[in-house]
Amino acid sequence: MDVQRLDKFISNQCFDISRSGVKDLVKKGKVTVNGKVVKKADEKIDAESDEICVFGKRIVYKKHLYIMLNKPAGVVCATRDGLSPTVLALLPDELKREGLFPAGRLDKDTEGFVLITSDGDLAHKMLAPKSHVPKLYYVRLEMPLAKNAENEFKTGMTLLDGTSCLPAELERINEKECFVTLHEGMFHQVKRMFEALGNKVTYLKRVKIGGVDLDGGLALGEVRELTPSEVEKLLLR
Ligand code: URA
Repeated sequence: MDVQRLDKFISNQCFDISRSGVKDLVKKGKVTVNGKVVKKADEKIDAESDEICVFGKRIVYKKHLYIMLNKPAGVVCATRDGLSPTVLALLPDELKREGLFPAGRLDKDTEGFVLITSDGDLAHKMLAPKSHVPKLYYVRLEMPLAKNAENEFKTGMTLLDGTSCLPAELERINEKECFVTLHEGMFHQVKRMFEALGNKVTYLKRVKIGGVDLDGGLALGEVRELTPSEVEKLLLR
């Protein structure tokens, strides 16, 4: 059971219908619950079992949205920002909804996988220090990787400001490219880790969160909803 007010339910599920819009539609007899025309916009419905239609079209109830974005550079991971466009501004109208936020941040100049969701519990589970899910980054560097780089990552690195990092994994692709897996999410962490090794990140892209790979078919700035099995895999460690 998930009992809600009808007007709240409809305006929540359909970004283009406000609560007062629902009232108008109800007055015009355009809203039905289980086949019956509704008289009051604030009546209680069960979002999970009642069949709610507007203009005869069923509203498919989604308690939460889980959206994969291939973030381009120049966009910030925030719900609002006075200066730069936010990741939420990239959502198409049909995926816009109150309560969405980016679960975890990428720097403005970093590309790749950002999860946008309305599910605060899941975001908390993904990001809390005790249960932090791994995140995989593709990294390009200014200078060749140090010979001992793998070991430096594996043993838990100390950043230039004295901050200790958890053990992480580095997988070399060639002398100036690698993959890094982190199990925590400190500010500018990948960049600061390479700085501590006397190197510099020239390009950074997040390519995996938990057990979910960034969809290679998504161009920069494109989004798609996660499948139910991908939602489960977000928490894989
Ligand atoms: N590490 C960074 O330095 N930047 C990011 O955006 C993510 C991880």
